[in-house]
Amino acid sequence: MTAISKTFALGGEHDVNRLGYGAMRLTGQPGNFGPFPDWEGGKAVLRRAADLGMTFFDSAWAYGPEYADRIVGEALAGRDVVIATKGGVDKPASGRIVVDGSRDTLLRQIDRALVNLRRERIDLFQLHRVDPNVPIEDSVAALAEAQADGRIAHIGLSNVARDQLDRALGVAPIASVQNRFNMAETDHADLVDFTAERGIAFIPYGPLGANPMQPGAKLAAREALAWLLRRSPNIIVIPGTTSIAHLEENWSAWDLL
Ligand SMILES: NC(=O)c1ccc[n+]([C@@H]2O[C@H](COP(=O)([O-])OP(=O)(O)OC[C@H]3O[C@@H](n4cnc5c(N)ncnc54)[C@H](OP(=O)(O)O)[C@@H]3O)[C@@H](O)[C@H]2O)c1
Repeated sequence: MTAISKTFALGGEHDVNRLGYGAMRLTGQPGNFGPFPDWEGGKAVLRRAADLGMTFFDSAWAYGPEYADRIVGEALAGRDVVIATKGGVDKPASGRIVVDGSRDTLLRQIDRALVNLRRERIDLFQLHRVDPNVPIEDSVAALAEAQADGRIAHIGLSNVARDQLDRALGVAPIASVQNRFNMAETDHADLVDFTAERGIAFIPYGPLGANPMQPGAKLAAREALAWLLRRSPNIIVIPGTTSIAHLEENWSAWDLL
C-alpha cells in the first residue's frame, strides 16, 4: 500500500496537516446570525484542534458575518497555524445572502479580516463565490493587489467551475479550490484531479455530507474523512464541529490510513 502523505504544501510553501477544521458551525445555529452562543466552548474546540495537530482552519466573512473570523482569531492568537478565510459573500441580518465580488468590497473585507483574525497577513483568502455581475478576472485582480502589498499570502477560489478556474489562473496563481465534495457527492471529481495535477489544494466542503442549513453529519465521520484523504493527495478536509468529542473522533480518521 502506498503511504499517504499527511501534509500538503499550500501554495507550494505552507505545509499543512490535511485534516483541518471548518469554523462555519461556530456562528450559532445554521441559518442564525451572530456570535456562537457558547463563545468560550467554541474557543476550547479550536484550541483542542490545534493541540491535536490540526494546522489548517477555514473561516469566512459571511460566517456570522465576521464572528467566525473573530472567534478563530481570538482562540488561535499566537499559534503557528494556517488560517484561511473568504470574502465576496455577505450575510446581513436580513438573512439574505449578498454576493459582491467588487474590488472595494473585497479589499474592505480583507482589512477587516486582518483585524478579526489578529494577523498581519492572511495566509489564504478565498473568493467565496463568483459575483455574476463582476468578471472573475476583476475579483481575482483585487485579491492579487492585496497579495502584492502583503495583506494576503495566497489566493483561493470557492464554488467554481473549471472554466472559471482557468480564467482566474490567467490573472494570478491560485493556491486552492473549495467546492462541495464528499464520498456521496462527487460532481467535482474532475476538478479534484485537475487541481492535483497543478499543485492546487482541493478543499472539499460538507465532507460529512451535512446540509449547510441543518445540523448533523449524514455520513459516518471517520470513514468519510478517510475516503477523502485517500482520494487525492491535494485534498485538505475541513469537517466542522462544535463538539470536542466529535473533533477527536474526526482527528482519529488518521488511524484508518
Ligand atoms: N465554501 C463554501 O461555500 C462552504 C459551504 C459550506 C461549508 N463550508 C466550509 O466547510 C466546513 C464543513 O462543512 P459543514 O460544516 O457544512 O459540513 P460537515 O463538515 O460535512 O458536517 C458538519 C456537521 O456534522 C456534525 N459532525 C461533525 N463531526 C461529527 C462526528 N464525528 N460525528 C457526528 N456528527 C459530526 C456537526 O455537528 P456537531 O457540531 O454536533 O459535531 C455538524 O452539524 C464548514 O465549517 C465551512 O468551513 C464552505
